[in-house]
Amino acid sequence: MTTNRRPPPLAFLCLVSVLCLLSSPSLASSAKRHYVVYLGGHNHGGSSATEADLQAVTDSHHDLLATHLGDMEKAKNAIRYSYTRHINGFTAVLDAEEAARIAKHPGVVSVFPDRMKKLHTTNSWDFMLLNKEIEIPSGKLIKVPSEIWKAARFGENVIIGNLDSGVWPESKSFNDKGYGPIPAKWKGLCENNTKIGVSCNRKLIGSRLYNKGFIEDGSTADPADLYNPRDMDGHGSHTLSTAGGNFVPGVDILSAAGGVAKGGAPRARVAAYKVCFVVEDGTSCADSDILAGFDAAIADGVDVLSVSLGSEDFADYSYLADGLAIGSFHAVRSGVVVVASAGNSGPVQGTVANFAPWIVTVGASTTDRNIDVHVELGNGDRLKGTALFQKPLPDHKQYKLASAADVKLPNATAEDAILCLPGTLDPTKAQGKILACLRGKTARVDKSRQAKNAGAIGVILCNDEASGIELVDDIHYVPTSHVVYKDGVKVFRYINGTKNPTAYIAPPVTTYGNKPAPSLAAFSSRGPNVVTPQILKPDVAAPGVNILAAYTMAGDDESRKYPYQLESGTSMACPHVAGVAALVKAVHPDWSPSAVHSAIMTTARTRGNTGDKMNDLNEHESSSFGYGAGHIRPNRAIKPGLVYEVAAHEYLELLCSIGYNSSDMGELLEKGYKCPKKVKSVFDHNYPSFSVPNLGSGPVTFKRRVKNVGPPGVYAAEVKEPYGVAVKVVPDVLKFDKYGEEKSFKVMVAAKWKGAAKGYEFGGLTWTDGDHYVRSPIFVTDNLVIDQSNKIVGTY
Ligand SMILES: *[C@@H]1O[C@H](CO)[C@@H](O)[C@H](O)[C@H]1NC(C)=O
Ligand SMILES: *[C@@H]1O[C@H](CO)[C@@H](O)[C@H](O)[C@H]1NC(C)=O
Ligand SMILES: *[C@@H]1O[C@H](CO)[C@@H](O)[C@H](O)[C@H]1NC(C)=O
Ligand SMILES: *[C@@H]1O[C@H](CO)[C@@H](O)[C@H](O)[C@H]1NC(C)=O
Repeated sequence: MTTNRRPPPLAFLCLVSVLCLLSSPSLASSAKRHYVVYLGGHNHGGSSATEADLQAVTDSHHDLLATHLGDMEKAKNAIRYSYTRHINGFTAVLDAEEAARIAKHPGVVSVFPDRMKKLHTTNSWDFMLLNKEIEIPSGKLIKVPSEIWKAARFGENVIIGNLDSGVWPESKSFNDKGYGPIPAKWKGLCENNTKIGVSCNRKLIGSRLYNKGFIEDGSTADPADLYNPRDMDGHGSHTLSTAGGNFVPGVDILSAAGGVAKGGAPRARVAAYKVCFVVEDGTSCADSDILAGFDAAIADGVDVLSVSLGSEDFADYSYLADGLAIGSFHAVRSGVVVVASAGNSGPVQGTVANFAPWIVTVGASTTDRNIDVHVELGNGDRLKGTALFQKPLPDHKQYKLASAADVKLPNATAEDAILCLPGTLDPTKAQGKILACLRGKTARVDKSRQAKNAGAIGVILCNDEASGIELVDDIHYVPTSHVVYKDGVKVFRYINGTKNPTAYIAPPVTTYGNKPAPSLAAFSSRGPNVVTPQILKPDVAAPGVNILAAYTMAGDDESRKYPYQLESGTSMACPHVAGVAALVKAVHPDWSPSAVHSAIMTTARTRGNTGDKMNDLNEHESSSFGYGAGHIRPNRAIKPGLVYEVAAHEYLELLCSIGYNSSDMGELLEKGYKCPKKVKSVFDHNYPSFSVPNLGSGPVTFKRRVKNVGPPGVYAAEVKEPYGVAVKVVPDVLKFDKYGEEKSFKVMVAAKWKGAAKGYEFGGLTWTDGDHYVRSPIFVTDNLVIDQSNKIVGTY
């Protein structure tokens, strides 16, 4: 199936920059490593493929490899994965010369070394009005399901998969009581259907494990994790239950944050694809395993895929040499909505990950629930922090307080001790005291662990200036209050100026309706998109701070095993959007992934519960670099009015537009497809947002189409111009006579004066019929300069 094709022209080879590296002799070496050989799509029609078709594909992979390795036996020994169903490709252990030769083989789209990604480490649904609070005649407030939950029947029969660290099948979130038969279209299964492995039921309908890439990488993990689809980390159960977990009443964690745990689509069916494993410094997930997960999930019949992992290194980036981008490309073209996390490298700009235009990219925000832990200082000051811990201080009285710097071991520096780093605290001095520790360098909970080990009875964890007002509800080893920077300064000042400083840490109290909310999390990765700056990323924000969801019971420390756990990260935000995508799919089963993507974006909101623009956690106004189109509004997403839809072939056109324009590339990704002679401008990709990274080079025109998915109506364009920028929409009125009708328009963007938009300027375009508001953000800057390693160098 790879015959009769000319080798891709060199121009294309060099776009996939790893190939350029491969052909450079200095890098050629005989050291073997694991490579992905990507061959594009299949001719056998994906879902309709027979066993014989799949075998023929694997045979062709063996043949191709044998041609370069000398014989069939060597080929069979070298190959690890053969992707046969939707993604065409294989992985093999090769040396650099072999890899370079294979890259030149006719029909090969790209060859790249397997690389490792990381996981981007529920009141939240009530906060987004999925449960509305109403007053019943007796005057009591009760919660009733929202419009979207009713319309979507809680996501009944939609199938949500995740690529993550597996699943804890015994969690109540995945219990199948009350579920009918598994939807007939489901082709997946539980691969390790045992008590030690994962047994499926009518709720948790699939579980698979992919570890070959991880093993070839030479990473080490506990065999109990590596060979078992069960979740030993907690992350996978957390994300999957956030997207589609059952209603589970009475869940609380250390008597705080209690309530009903639930997923966005609580009646959806769920399936776990384990591709990430616990390593010493977190988790690790190989591109080749991710690809295997995508190929299986598409073939199994998932409707929505939630992917809370990624890489944050974009040097030499190519969409066609990134397992997540390739896998999601095939998934979306097969009708699966793919939602992924933006990454946790904020607030630095230009850090947003998973920016492929076919992915729904999600940033993280706070909710209006706080867990307050009050601190009373000996001078009468009361501070409000947050944290969770098992046993409160025995009495409500003042305890001795010290700066961790003042209880240091003789061999430790004060700079290290104040951070409560391991091996810096002196038990003879720390015994029985509350320690003030500074945030930074080590994990927040490790600081309370060090304090506990040194005999301290409490911790005031003080933010440094950079972390500002960002607080996290971690479960600490001793009574702890995590306080904002300004309060931390007060604590250290008080200690400095007092002979015998004292403090009390109160037990946690849960409060709701806090303002302002949402705020964008400081850690949430920010735009601009440094690889394709004409596509604004992230797309939306969703709750990702202190999210309560299912966890693993595999922890080795008995005192720290919890069936439900609070976690923070864009990892937690992503499955919120996956849950909403499942609800939208339940209401509109025939909608394409791009229609769902558009509906979620154009109905999002940029203001918080005070009516003001959403803030960053450093108390500045946030922007589309943080929240994209805004914070999701699930109830609106089922009736967006209009959608910006992208046909499957338009993703190929997009790749042509951004330079992957060899005729072979198109043909390989889809039989019979060729890049158009005159490639479309990236600005004309039918995306629901507008991004102008280089207005200094002259005015820009976007072409767009919107499809009516509501009643007939007349929509008018309302523009909020970015500062210094003129935006004209032609035509500015669109009349729709029927459902499904599409209308085109242009958006012309020009500087109002020379040198306008020197900084980053934001605005918006809203189409409205008075009932629906179809809002898209607009971003404009004069001259965004990105260097070769995909770092922003400047805007001048
Ligand atoms: C799961 O299945 C794989 C492949 O058959 C096997 O290698 C592994 O040992 C199994 N794990 C468990 C926990 O049964
Ligand atoms: C200081 O010495 C103690 C042993 O007395 C050791 O455990 C600790 O790691 C040392 N700390 C540093 C920072 O070297
Ligand atoms: C506390 O005092 C020390 C010196 O005595 C000084 O270096 C430090 O900045 C003071 N810290 C605060 C928060 O005032
Ligand atoms: C691909 O696009 C680039 C930039 O637009 C152009 O220079 C190149 O000639 C194109 N290659 C092909 C094969 O069309």
